[in-house]
Amino acid sequence: MRHDVIIALDFENRARTLSFLDRFGAEQPFVKIGMELFYAEGPTIVRELKQRGLKIFLDLKLHDIPNTVRKAMAVLSGLDVDMTNVHAAGTIAMMQAALEGLTRPDGSHADLLAVTQLTSTDEARMREELWIDRPMDQTVLHYAANARQAGLTGVVCSPLEAAQVKEACGAGFLTVTPGIRFADSAADDQRRIMTPAKAKTHGCDCIVVGRPITAAADPVAAYRRCLEEFLG
Ligand code: C5P
Repeated sequence: MRHDVIIALDFENRARTLSFLDRFGAEQPFVKIGMELFYAEGPTIVRELKQRGLKIFLDLKLHDIPNTVRKAMAVLSGLDVDMTNVHAAGTIAMMQAALEGLTRPDGSHADLLAVTQLTSTDEARMREELWIDRPMDQTVLHYAANARQAGLTGVVCSPLEAAQVKEACGAGFLTVTPGIRFADSAADDQRRIMTPAKAKTHGCDCIVVGRPITAAADPVAAYRRCLEEFLG
């Protein structure tokens, strides 16, 4: 199983992103480009970081009618990213359409993940705002099973749910988990969090880490600390 630390490049533009990455020298971390950076810079930033040899998780969380998602994914497929995602709430039909769009003529495709429930969501908000009455873990497992049925590579979920997802969907079903915080760092807006060291023992294949690295006084040291805790 592939274990990795993915740095969330939640920056507003190319200049800030490149000056952040320059601190890493020859090191080539696996990075995540999210909505903020992609909407600011477009596909150019993806191509530029690919050219630098970085592995890229393009985190755009598509959620629309199946036809639209299929066509959008076909465009993203041309960017040759390593990982991308959709919302599981978009239904199995939408996830299947996403996979179709992403699949290259030779049958291969980037890892396609489904977002189960955002790690900023808690059970009270699910119940009171979204009218989802089931417990969080049941909802996440159900969405993960849907993603597996649609043929996706895995899910984005909280580290608290990764072990259960693995148990229900199989060891080969990828769990990618944001909501990672060092024992001594702030939770920010995340609700369901875990340290890199604990994530390692909880069935997380890859951890996505943003502010604990990007907002650290020494981001390279914070990244190394993540690697040590998670992979060491
Ligand atoms: O700064 P922080 O470590 O909280 O960043 C987490 C990253 O993971 C953000 O880019 C956020 O958009 C993303 N993410 C998340 N929860 C999900 C899916 C993605 O926090 N369920």
